[in-house]
Amino acid sequence: MAEITRREFVTTAGVITGGLACGIPVAARQQNLIGAASATEVSEQAATGSVPLGLTVNGQEHRVNIDPRVTLLDLLREHLNLTGTKKGCDHGQCGACTVLANGRRINSCLSLALVHDGEQITTIEGLAHGEELHPLQAAFIEYDGFQCGYCTPGQICSAAALIEEARRGDASVVTADLSKSGPAELNVEEIRERMSGNICRCGAYPGIVQAVQFVSRKTSARSHGNGVGDAAV
Ligand code: FES
Ligand code: FES
Repeated sequence: MAEITRREFVTTAGVITGGLACGIPVAARQQNLIGAASATEVSEQAATGSVPLGLTVNGQEHRVNIDPRVTLLDLLREHLNLTGTKKGCDHGQCGACTVLANGRRINSCLSLALVHDGEQITTIEGLAHGEELHPLQAAFIEYDGFQCGYCTPGQICSAAALIEEARRGDASVVTADLSKSGPAELNVEEIRERMSGNICRCGAYPGIVQAVQFVSRKTSARSHGNGVGDAAV
C-alpha cells in the first residue's frame, strides 16, 4: 500500500472538505490515496447525502436512505415513528434508549443505524403480542416498577435481555461462583448489578427489581418444565 505523505493528506482533506461544502463530487481527487471503490462510495454519499439501509424492526422490514451519521435511536424515533424508545442523556449514560439488536441489549443512542444493516431490532413496541402484554410489562405494572415511565421502555428491554443472558449462564461481576455452569440465579444483588446501566430518576428501583425477579423465577420454572422461557424475545 502506497505511503501517504503529510502534505498529500492535508491537501486531500482540504479538497474533500471544500468539495463537500460546495456539493462537488471529490472522488477523482481522492482516487490515488484511498482507492477506487472507497472513492466511489464517498462520491455517492457526497452527491446524495444518504446511504441505503435495510433492517427489520419488530418483525417489519424497513428500507430507508439515511444520513450515515444517524444513530439507531434517531432512526427509530425520527424516521420510523417508533417513539417508545426514549432519549434521555443521548450519551450512553442512562439506558433510556435500550433496544435489542439481534437479541442483544444496546444503547441505541451510541450506535449508528448503519451498523445494524440486516439486523433484527426489537423495541418496547415489539414486546407485547397484540393485546397480551409481555410478562415483564405486566410485572412492572403489578410491582409498581415505574412512576413517570420515561425510563421504563429501556428498563423492560434491558430486563428481557438480562433474563436471557442469565438463562444462558452468563456471569456478572457479582456472580460468586464462576465455575458453576447452567443458568445464573437472579438474586437481588445480581439484578441490581445487571440492571445498573438503566437509571431511574424516580427511584422506582425496588419495584423494578421485584418485577424482574418475579419474571425470571417464572421463566426459570417454565424452562425446567418444557425447555423454553417466555421472557426472552
Ligand atoms: S439516551 Fe442512550 S443511554 Fe441515555
Ligand atoms: S419511572 Fe421515572 S425515570 Fe424511571
